[in-house]
This record gives sequence, structure tokens and C-alpha cells, in this order.
Amino acid sequence: MNFDSIQRAADAITTRSSGRRHRVAAVLGSGLSSYAEHLPNAIAIPYEEIPGFPMPGVQGHAGTAYSVELEGVPILILAGRAHFYEGHGLEQVVFAVRASIAAGAATILLTNASGACGDGLQPGDLVLLRDHLNLTGQNPLFGPNDDRLGARFPDLTNAYDPNLRAIAQEVARRVEIDLREGVYAWFTGPTYETPAEVQMAKRMGADMVGMSTVPETIAARHMGARVIAISLVTNLAAGISGGPLSHEEVQETAEAARDRFTRLVDLLLPQLA
Ligand code: HPA
Repeated sequence: MNFDSIQRAADAITTRSSGRRHRVAAVLGSGLSSYAEHLPNAIAIPYEEIPGFPMPGVQGHAGTAYSVELEGVPILILAGRAHFYEGHGLEQVVFAVRASIAAGAATILLTNASGACGDGLQPGDLVLLRDHLNLTGQNPLFGPNDDRLGARFPDLTNAYDPNLRAIAQEVARRVEIDLREGVYAWFTGPTYETPAEVQMAKRMGADMVGMSTVPETIAARHMGARVIAISLVTNLAAGISGGPLSHEEVQETAEAARDRFTRLVDLLLPQLA
């Protein structure tokens, strides 16, 4: 694998942030990049200036890394991710997460937007990933293994760290946010799922469906970093809602949830170190 390019990117991140050793990195998903706007004294590093970083193509994904200290903890915020459906290979999709870990981050917070198929889940809900279903037949670890990065056969029993989930629940209680837990099924996109696919995923145990996060989780676990992931439900998955989705309604719900997301993540990030 591309050990040297990961190292070069990590060095660039460290140099551009005045030698800061980041302990936590967070990836902001679709519609959540605006979280980075309010960060105090952040050093902005455009992805173009980090060698090897793929440029995210989806509108609303910023393509900037922010180096910040929250409660004295150095944290790297990645606003924007590359998706598999854009044509990036999975090695590219997971590159930023790998570089962040190589730059010191032992814990990764992944966030995303998703459609809900789990009972009781509603648009606007924030959901901790308890586990995932990889329904794509793809894996970022396909190919020769580089033992310097991690093991050939990584264990995914506790892919989403139970201790970090407990910390997140404690933080959520403090800020009076109802933080749900569920299983996330990864589809490649870019089409949304068919209603039949959503029913399949639901019967297999999925509560949310989406197009990201899982490859990054796999790569992070490969490198031994701890992972926590939060999904913002932006809509009921295809076929779950009675009628057609109202785009305005979805946006309004997402907007309202972003405030809660910010409150939760602000408090949570320093606790993850
Ligand atoms: N499906 C897949 N990805 C998504 C969805 C969905 O319904 N909503 C937001 N991202």
C-alpha cells in the first residue's frame, strides 16, 4: 500500500499546523461541514495543500482540514470526504483518515448523513453507529497488506468503540440530546437505494443506509485507531415514508439537527482523546 504517501501527507498536516500533534480527527459528512465554521482559532489547511488528499466533489463538502485546540486537546477536523461513487478508489477514499492517524490521531470521529429504515428513527435524529453492514462487496484492504499499517485480517468485533459510545451517551445526556444507536448499512451509491434494497437491509439488521463511513472505519481499525461514528438521519429511506419526500422538510430538519450536532460534537471531541 501507499505507506510513504500517507507519511508525506501526515508530515504536511503537522508542518502546516505549526507542529501540532493531533490526538483526535473528525470527518464531517454531507451537510455537516458547516460545523467547522465556528471553530475558534482554527488553522485552515486546504486539501490541495496536503499531498495525496483527494478532492471531494459533492457540493456542501468543503475540502479543508482545520487544526484546532478544544479544551487544550489538538484536534484535526476534516471538512469534506471523498466518496467511492465519485470514482475515487477506496485507497483514496480512506487516505485522509489514514494520514490523520499517521499524524497522531489515535481516535477518529466519523459523521455522515443517512436515510433511516430502523423502527422509531426519524429525520433529525442523531444516531451512534453500533455496528455496520458492508453490502457493497468492496473493501479498502483488498490487495497486498502493508504490515507497517496493520494486520492482514483485522478484527471488527468492536469496530465502533463501546467505551467511546458510553462517553458520547454521557455527553449527550449532559446537553440533553437524545442520542440513538443503530446499525449502518453501506451502499456505494450514487443512486439512492430502491425500496426493496432498503427492506433487505432492514431485515438484515440495518437501521440506517448511507454511502460512506464504512471504508474509513475499516482503514482506521486496520491501523489500530479507535472509531466512533455519528449519523444524522436526514430522511426516511426509500419506501419507508408513505409519500414522496419533501426536500424542504428534509432540509429544515437537517438544519435544526445541525445545532444539536454542534453542541454534541463540541463537547464530545475533547473527551475522545
Ligand atoms: N440513502 C443513502 N444515503 C443517504 C440517504 C439515503 O436515504 N440519505 C442521506 N444519505
